[in-house]
Amino acid sequence: MSAQAQRRIIIAQDAQALAETAAARLFARIEQTPHPAMICLTGGTTPKPLYNLLATPPWRARIPWPRVHWFLSDDRFVPQDDERSNAGMARRAFLDACAPPQNTHTIRTDVATPDEAARLYELELHAFHPMPLESAPLFDFVLLGVGSDGHVASLFPGTEGAAETRRWAAGIADAGLAPLVPRVSLTLPALCAARELLFLVSGEGKREIVGRVFAGDDLPATRAHAAQGETVWLLDRAAAPPNLKETG
Ligand code: 6PG
Repeated sequence: MSAQAQRRIIIAQDAQALAETAAARLFARIEQTPHPAMICLTGGTTPKPLYNLLATPPWRARIPWPRVHWFLSDDRFVPQDDERSNAGMARRAFLDACAPPQNTHTIRTDVATPDEAARLYELELHAFHPMPLESAPLFDFVLLGVGSDGHVASLFPGTEGAAETRRWAAGIADAGLAPLVPRVSLTLPALCAARELLFLVSGEGKREIVGRVFAGDDLPATRAHAAQGETVWLLDRAAAPPNLKETG
């Protein structure tokens, strides 16, 4: 079966329903996981309502925080108190208030280069998952957004980072879209090593790129699918092209 055929599509009424549905799926996945849960968050603006929700009742009370480990799909190579930092955004929205500090695994941006940060993040992931990605999924749940150019995490179309097949993380010298700062990103092999890969897509501005992904254009977002699990595209009505139908 093709990656495309394996995608599940869920359409939420609006941005609030999108965040609620994502929180429910994340929570269900944590509950189903007998071992410490490995969750990979993403950056950008779309997941912020979800992150805020996780810090509020009832989700905050339900999540078994001590047994959940939080990682980032990518980050901008800026300090965490810079407003462009993905880790800073997630920490302020919920991680600092809810997660034990040792369970928050952000990408270092206080080292010399994005390549060095990628190397260290890969080592940190190896410590949790000391086996090849093909043997078992690295993450229980991976959250991704999609850029208007079809990028995921910081893997921009037509770049070396997006074509990486071996490393789990890569330094990205040039971002394809604003903010135009160097990035550090997990690669497609690592992001796809998930029991559930959930795309969160909101707003009319994403409708065109969603159409291109579902038409099969060769883009990082088209190639991102859970290699050993479920791939779900959760969109709000505004982001969904008219011909895109829920698959239940
Ligand atoms: C980043 C992200 C990136 C993001 C998309 C969508 O660092 O920018 O991780 O991949 O998910 O660009 O961003 P929006 O949610 O802001 O549209």
